[in-house]
Amino acid sequence: MIKKCLFPAAGYGTRFLPATKAMPKEMLPIVNKPLIQYGVEEALEAGLHEIAVVTGRNKRSIEDHFDISFEMEHQIYGTDKEHYLTGVRSLISECTFSYTRQIQMKGLGHAILTGRTLIGDEAFAVVLADDLCINLDGDGVLQQMIKLYNQFRCSIVAIQEVPMEETAKYGVISGEMIRDDIYRVHSMVEKPKPEDAPSNLAIIGRYILTPDIFDIIAQTEPGKGGEIQITDALMKQAQQGCVIAYKFKGQRFDCGSVEGYIDATNFCYENLYKTDK
Ligand code: G1P
Repeated sequence: MIKKCLFPAAGYGTRFLPATKAMPKEMLPIVNKPLIQYGVEEALEAGLHEIAVVTGRNKRSIEDHFDISFEMEHQIYGTDKEHYLTGVRSLISECTFSYTRQIQMKGLGHAILTGRTLIGDEAFAVVLADDLCINLDGDGVLQQMIKLYNQFRCSIVAIQEVPMEETAKYGVISGEMIRDDIYRVHSMVEKPKPEDAPSNLAIIGRYILTPDIFDIIAQTEPGKGGEIQITDALMKQAQQGCVIAYKFKGQRFDCGSVEGYIDATNFCYENLYKTDK
């Protein structure tokens, strides 16, 4: 059974400067809730109570967010403001949070390998918090993937179709379709130019990984951009055994870009915030 969810959160968020100069991009709010809180809620919904975060310099506020803010909470105790904290308080009581720091930014694969000390020898989920995933009609994306893992017992990446001219923003897969929404991966390329892309099926920031991935990452040479890429490690895993790509149900917003962030804000305001009031 998968219990742990890893959040690589050491990146600089350069696409969001100057907002991210002194603040982690994972703490940018979508309406009134930081991005990483949406990710933790999705993990908890999927039954993952052990939250592991790979942080870096300037990321202290993530740890503070999932903790008591004693003075402020004392101040609003018993007032009509207290309900604003209900959501995050229930996450704090239902999850454990552990942190480790990535000292050098050497890519997503390296960040995941840094998390090994928190994960150990068990399958785990990975959430890239700046990919906000919402399914209004049923299970969240991680929950959908956990159900698939229970069937396939191998690493799984979430994918979506993107316009061919956008392949250079993503890891891109190709494979054999084994159900209308499931592929067995044959090939995977990190951020290919459209002319080199094996398809338009792009990996988005949700993964289930089996623990053999750690040794594979440790042996993976730097790839695209001189960084250690999880895509390259997964490609090796697919050659050795099996990796599944899953076309998830729901919406995904690239909140690392200003456009995606605005779309997510409008969507959440209309569909979650307003209806919650
Ligand atoms: C990372 C991965 C890429 C994946 C993307 C999803 O890239 O390297 O394969 O498609 O996340 O958001 P990044 O966006 O961190 O550059």
